[in-house]
Amino acid sequence: MGGEPDLATASRVLRERLGPFRPRVGIVLGSGLGGLADAVEPHAEVTYDAIPGMPLPKVPGHRGAFLAGRLEGAAVVLQRGRLHLYEGHAPAVAVLPVRLMASIGVEVLIVTNAAGGLRPSVPPPALMLITDHLNLMARSPLMGPVLEGEQRFPDMTAAYDPALRALARQAAGEVGVILHEGIYAGLLGPSFETPAEIRMLARLGADAVGMSTVPEVIVARARGLRVLGISSITNLAAGISGEALSHEEVLEAGRAVARDLEMVVRGVVGRLDTGG
Ligand code: HPA
Repeated sequence: MGGEPDLATASRVLRERLGPFRPRVGIVLGSGLGGLADAVEPHAEVTYDAIPGMPLPKVPGHRGAFLAGRLEGAAVVLQRGRLHLYEGHAPAVAVLPVRLMASIGVEVLIVTNAAGGLRPSVPPPALMLITDHLNLMARSPLMGPVLEGEQRFPDMTAAYDPALRALARQAAGEVGVILHEGIYAGLLGPSFETPAEIRMLARLGADAVGMSTVPEVIVARARGLRVLGISSITNLAAGISGEALSHEEVLEAGRAVARDLEMVVRGVVGRLDTGG
């Protein structure tokens, strides 16, 4: 935790490590969704410990590294190992990887996550294209001074880019993957929700609930990045099936749809016009 991370130094180190390679697409991998990394033709892997100011993630199933390389011909960088607010990271620290990716030229951010599903008609494992979110984390990564290149009051009307969503639908259709759509509610965690909280979220219009993504998307929008978000619905949210929730179940279900998610992300990346 501590003070504001030094973005300029961290950015310089990451750029040095990548050499002339300039990824245009950043991909954040959620719990149990690390398999996409195997599809990347690697250029360089930069572990978080090589970057000043980057803390190490502590959640099982998360790794701390940026993997830069080619996916479907496009220059991409994967963030392996997310920093969650519930680990005690200040919001500005949790979004440092996104600010870093933006600072090296990333223009499109693809965020994935594991989430609990609120719709009994969408049993896990399933994929959900995020159409919008509810920030129920009671904080924002933009609190404090406005950083260079960011807006004080970013517009969130189309936070999840409609054109990217259209590409995701096309990509999913082409490979026969069912892509549900809905609203993601971001909560602080780390306890799973109570059944009463899930009933509240359902009334608020949430279709899925998780403990990540929202801070990253807010900061991405403040920097003008276009965002695509996909949730892997790993379990029915608390109280819906009556069964207890566990992180193991989340990881296992995440693995079950990892291939579908990978195909959709590859399809989207392959359709992007990123200029190489
Ligand atoms: N709640 C919150 N976060 C989650 C869940 C859930 O049910 N499943 C996976 N991440």
